[in-house]
Amino acid sequence: MKKTRVVVIGTGAVGSTTAYTLLLRNRMDELVLIDANHNKAVGDALDMNHGMPFTGGAKLWAGTYEDCREADIIIITAGAAQRDGETRVDLLKRNVSIFDSIIEEVSKVNTQAILLIASNPVDIMSYFTWRKLQWPINRIIGSGTLLDSARFRYLIGEKLDIDPRSVHAHIVGEHGDSELPLWSLANVAGAQLQLSDEDKEDIFTNTRDAAYQIIDAKGATYYAIALALDRICTAILRDEGAVLNVSTLLQDYHGISDVYLGVPCIVDRQGVREVMNITITDSEKELLQCSANKLKGLIESISP
Ligand code: LAC
Repeated sequence: MKKTRVVVIGTGAVGSTTAYTLLLRNRMDELVLIDANHNKAVGDALDMNHGMPFTGGAKLWAGTYEDCREADIIIITAGAAQRDGETRVDLLKRNVSIFDSIIEEVSKVNTQAILLIASNPVDIMSYFTWRKLQWPINRIIGSGTLLDSARFRYLIGEKLDIDPRSVHAHIVGEHGDSELPLWSLANVAGAQLQLSDEDKEDIFTNTRDAAYQIIDAKGATYYAIALALDRICTAILRDEGAVLNVSTLLQDYHGISDVYLGVPCIVDRQGVREVMNITITDSEKELLQCSANKLKGLIESISP
């Protein structure tokens, strides 16, 4: 029986934490680490393998692009990370050139894998990857607003003193400053949330600006994004059909086309099986279209 293989390209804070999370949770049979600094990947592989007597699990090694050949999922976290006070969009030019060479190398050895993009600005990097490779849309996925939605659910849970796993709420749009909360759909056990407008504003602002706060405090974010990437990998490898706010190419979605955005999608072994058609308010639709237009403007800035 074919062994499941996940490859992580980029073993910086996000990539190595994601690899460690996947390893601890025993998600796959084989885990390969690739980094431009091969020594870093070797060091991470050694450090994680030395823990195997405590965890058991995947066969793990520092590899090369040749190891992508048998990959089921290729997670790309490589690229410059936000510096203190920098927006995700500021990374655009730097990361597009890094990405160009990475996806070139990947596509030489594997055209059937699912690509899971985490490098920022993730929606644009996902679109750029799709536009260059022209693979089926379902197999090029951005981490999208899954992390933002998790932050949103956590902060709502804190305010209501309810387990965030019982809070159902979505952040959609750009994984970034133009993202928006779908308060109209937020619920606990189907009941609308009893929150004041002030609480809602406070919760959303802290959700949207969370990364800036964390980067200011410790220089980077990596734990929650690693858990979000693990969640997406699990939905794929277990063929779950889970509804996750990943970034996908939208076509005629609330009047939006030709742009990657985070929206509720059904994720299974094929990747994004379907985009959930959700009913949102006119004001939410307007904000989503604004988010889309911001990203489309930036995509034009990187177009040849
Ligand atoms: C964050 C990074 C992953 O939001 O963009 O923490």
